[in-house]
Amino acid sequence: MTSNLSHHIPAASLWSTPTFIAFLITVFLAFGSAQVLRSRRTDKALNTSKMVPPIRVAIIGLSANAVTDWASRAHLPYFLSPAGRSRYQIVALCNSDVASAKRSIKMFNLPPETRAYGSPEDLAADPDVQLVVCSTRVDKHFNTTLPSVKAGKDVLVEWPLAENVGKARELAEEAKKAGGRTLVGLQGWYIPTTLKLKEIIASGRIAVSDGLKYFAQRKVGGNFVTIGFGHVWDWVQNVVGDVQNIQSRLQIQRPELNVIDSYTGRVSEIIKSDVPDLIALTGTLPGSEHIVEGATFSMKFRRARAFQGEPALVWTIYGEKGEIRLTAAVDTMLQVSQLADVTIEIDDFARHRVERVDFRWEKYTELPLLSRSYASIYEAYAKGETGKYGDFDYAVRRHAQLDGLLDSWDASKKAAADSASSNGRPAHEELRGISYVGGAPMDTCCRIKL
Ligand SMILES: *[C@@H]1O[C@H](CO)[C@@H](O)[C@H](O)[C@H]1NC(C)=O
Ligand SMILES: *[C@@H]1O[C@H](CO)[C@@H](O)[C@H](O)[C@H]1NC(C)=O
Repeated sequence: MTSNLSHHIPAASLWSTPTFIAFLITVFLAFGSAQVLRSRRTDKALNTSKMVPPIRVAIIGLSANAVTDWASRAHLPYFLSPAGRSRYQIVALCNSDVASAKRSIKMFNLPPETRAYGSPEDLAADPDVQLVVCSTRVDKHFNTTLPSVKAGKDVLVEWPLAENVGKARELAEEAKKAGGRTLVGLQGWYIPTTLKLKEIIASGRIAVSDGLKYFAQRKVGGNFVTIGFGHVWDWVQNVVGDVQNIQSRLQIQRPELNVIDSYTGRVSEIIKSDVPDLIALTGTLPGSEHIVEGATFSMKFRRARAFQGEPALVWTIYGEKGEIRLTAAVDTMLQVSQLADVTIEIDDFARHRVERVDFRWEKYTELPLLSRSYASIYEAYAKGETGKYGDFDYAVRRHAQLDGLLDSWDASKKAAADSASSNGRPAHEELRGISYVGGAPMDTCCRIKL
């Protein structure tokens, strides 16, 4: 931080009008950082790892409008619960305008002294706010949080962090410069299925060796790659480690999509999609105490309804001594699911027996479902337990993986077009609906490998 400050000064000696303006801006920013630095020093004296409650929090996007009520369902219940109140106090809201923020303060019965902001810059200038929670549409994450990030505040942004890896990286870099802590809302870390699978693997009970397979099928969703696929992709790796050496094939099987309003259940419009709806990939695992390095990871995910009577999602983890199978009958979005349709079973090779494993929400059962994972994230943050939640750097890693998939897809499309044109044939678009191979052949393939 100090070296940053002195770094700005020599630029001022190049005195011309444009540099002068630039200089003013940097001085202003530097001054802001100095203030942040001071307040952080004070915090440190108070021992941040214990953080004196309540942590003063501001929410961006707590809307009184029923169509965008995610923040009120996922974040608010924890903050208003006894556990949440013992650690946090909502001191401000920031919406698209002050009037809307005021409406939300009223609607959610927040104390009348809660401050209402209509711009991210005004919120960022509030020295009383320590943690900013951003719960808006993905494409607004960057603009609404950047000022607070730059002001050195701690910031939580829902997943995806931003609309692309570039923006995500910029947020992460700005946060590092300003010194605030960052969190990304990947709730999958705390769903009981994730915790249970990690527990089973950590027990050494199945001894994961070199055959690990994942495949999934997904029903209608929003942005398929980042949300529908992205959340599953994250919690799976939260269990087994970051997938490396990724080889992938992506495809658009359904270029025209019905947009279904999730609240009315009706088709609201038909759009043309440029997002792949089939992702097949293989990779290797980094290895850990109970997972052999280089174990094979294989995953297939598509946006479609499941074959009648078949589960929406199956994840099998093959080991030397047994096999774990997670099955979700109707929904792949476990991070927001009731989990009533989900089973975890272990096929114990030695005992020739399949055992069903119980799992349940252990914590925050008094809160509505959507708020429980967030409650654990907020608890970890309040206790200073970095590493128990994803931060912006972690999100950038996930974004980079997803962008890698899309980049190699673009490259393969280009290569196909080039080769078609060099053959004098017109480049044809995506093949449709013919290449999907069901789950069974992949099963067979993996069993042969064992
Ligand atoms: C801060 O508090 C934690 C938890 O009580 C303690 O382990 C740590 O030693 C403290 N650090 C300082 C610098 O006092
Ligand atoms: C974010 O801010 C930039 C610069 O002011 C603007 O061009 C862009 O449209 C904004 N993006 C969104 C999604 O509001």
